[in-house]
Amino acid sequence: MMSLSVDHLVGIKELSKEDIELIFQTADNFKSVINRPIKKVPSLRDITIANLFFENSTRTRLSFELAEKRLSADVVNFSAASSSVKKGETLIDTVNNILAMKVDMVVMRHPNPGAAKFLSENVDSRIVNAGDGAHEHPTQALLDSYSIRESLGSVKGKKVVIVGDITHSRVALSNIFCLQMQGAEVMVCGPATLIPKYIHDLGVKVEHNLRKALEWCDVANMLRIQLERMDVKYFPSIREYTMLYGLDKAFLDSLSKKIIVMHPGPINRGVEITSDVADSDQAIILDQVENGVAVRMAVIYLLAQKIKREE
Ligand code: CP
Repeated sequence: MMSLSVDHLVGIKELSKEDIELIFQTADNFKSVINRPIKKVPSLRDITIANLFFENSTRTRLSFELAEKRLSADVVNFSAASSSVKKGETLIDTVNNILAMKVDMVVMRHPNPGAAKFLSENVDSRIVNAGDGAHEHPTQALLDSYSIRESLGSVKGKKVVIVGDITHSRVALSNIFCLQMQGAEVMVCGPATLIPKYIHDLGVKVEHNLRKALEWCDVANMLRIQLERMDVKYFPSIREYTMLYGLDKAFLDSLSKKIIVMHPGPINRGVEITSDVADSDQAIILDQVENGVAVRMAVIYLLAQKIKREE
């Protein structure tokens, strides 16, 4: 049986093209499982997983928990807000205490870039990064590419524009790595202040005009403005941002071809996209959410197979 080249999922950067293809093939099987009347398989009955969330989440947290339960793993959930982290316990001590309760795998969201890699190097467990600050969100990028593959047949050769707050976005960085590895062309679009200077080193195109970007692409991934990560003003007002970079239905309908609209969520309706775009037949936003469960089942299943082989 094929296996992943990595022991942890800390970032897309550490994966190979073959790893991504294996995750997608495995997710295809799990997608059919979660659409059956009995949405569960007994694969991970002997595995216990802890979900550690040091930052807010709706989709990722529920999606991981459902993925784990659909695989029949035992699941414990940890929220920093109600934990002894508030009393000064370190990350390593917190996780080692959780592991002492015979936990096999840790899924972690943390505000600090590099937190998942740090944990993978300092504790004896499999680590899955559920988002580390503005660094990477690997399972989001995997489910995004999986959804493009499902809608357009493949990712190779497709043109994908990521629109909005690239500077503060872990979704953007993971998507750039993931899409390029599969042979897609990637463009970023937004105000100059929200596009990092290093972006040219990643081999992506940069466009500041939304119409030109949308005329170029097959897929537009519309990102949220991450106000919670901004300590200074990056643009004059939300209203001005929306006028220049917001997508409404009239704009979408005026394009010379039908593009696919994606959004990782949470959406700020009326800011980056209007409700009639979010709810249109060109938007695959809820497909992304559905695929997230299958893709996360695949990641957890494949990492757990490595634990079982060690035993
Ligand atoms: N897409 C995403 O990461 O959403 P949450 O912050 O709700 O998990």
